[in-house]
Amino acid sequence: MSFRILGTGSALPARSVTNDDLSEFLDTSDEWIFPRTGIKSRRICTTESLDELSVEASRAALEAAGVTPDQLDLIICSTTSGDHLIPAEACAIAELLGASCPAFDVSAACAGFIFALDVADGYFARGRAERVLVVAAEKMSRLVDWEDRATCVLFGDGAAAAVLGAGGLNPLAMSLTTDPSVEILHVPGVGGTSPYDQTERPASVLAMEGRRVFKFGVSTICTSVTELAREAGVAVEDIDHFVFHQANERILSSAVARLGIDDAKVTRSLAETGNISSACVPLALDRLVRAGKITPGQLVALVGFGAGLDTGACLLRWE
Ligand code: UT7
Repeated sequence: MSFRILGTGSALPARSVTNDDLSEFLDTSDEWIFPRTGIKSRRICTTESLDELSVEASRAALEAAGVTPDQLDLIICSTTSGDHLIPAEACAIAELLGASCPAFDVSAACAGFIFALDVADGYFARGRAERVLVVAAEKMSRLVDWEDRATCVLFGDGAAAAVLGAGGLNPLAMSLTTDPSVEILHVPGVGGTSPYDQTERPASVLAMEGRRVFKFGVSTICTSVTELAREAGVAVEDIDHFVFHQANERILSSAVARLGIDDAKVTRSLAETGNISSACVPLALDRLVRAGKITPGQLVALVGFGAGLDTGACLLRWE
């Protein structure tokens, strides 16, 4: 048994931080950031918790789906930046929604939403679930080093969700890959207070080799799209919408040129949100859906990539 997407939702913090705002305390400028990344501003949490954003996105998705929290059989949250290390962010979402189904997190960085879709697909295949809430929620502002201009300007906060229902055609194709390389993009875990610990305790902030991630991003989008089309038995030109991870406009435009696809089919949301890690793909999808741009029968390709180096790709027939 496969699934279909019954409804989507998203939520962003209220505070928009522009490139000019950043230049007030960092040696940076809109002239540097915008042409290199396509980012003009990002939303950053001030008073909002990630729990609150996650629940707002989840409620919007549930409402769009016509599903109530007590009808959920499973909640999966993709996050690397939750409000709690323990319990899972998904447990906080369940509590705030008033749901009593099993709830757990997946951690696959920017590819996490698609990894979570694949896990959910397994529950449908085994007949263990009728309705699953998949959330991707990230508070990247707590992971970045706000003194590192090479990274903190790229990221933002936000959450997005999808309610999946059993039955339907999806996914037409699914691919998860890991090209293991921890150092390229990582955030060390919390140090703790163990009196026995003699290991080094680097600061728990994001470190990244930007150029290597850039090259990986372009090549993994191209390989993933080609592979999805092959697996589903369709031509790349038949795909109606491409929802790629929103890391850098130049990654998107390089991939578009290399694949030879119509640029108008590629969704963009990063100008006003920056990179929200795993929330990027479902947030961009939610915007497409709410703008009424996806019609039944259309093919939608999702590709998320990032730390790991993980890539998740999925081809959906919209129902
Ligand atoms: O979810 C995946 C997450 N990561 C990504 O997608 C990142 C992918 N990579 C990128 O998007 C690009 O590599 C960046 C936008 C991060 C960097 O662009 P770049 O053209 O590769 O710049 P660079 O790191 O090579 O830095 C060039 C110069 C350096 O100065 P010098 O050494 O040439 O004097 C940097 O210090 O730009 C400087 N620089 C900045 N200047 C002003 C780096 N960041 C900034 C900044 N403002 N924010």
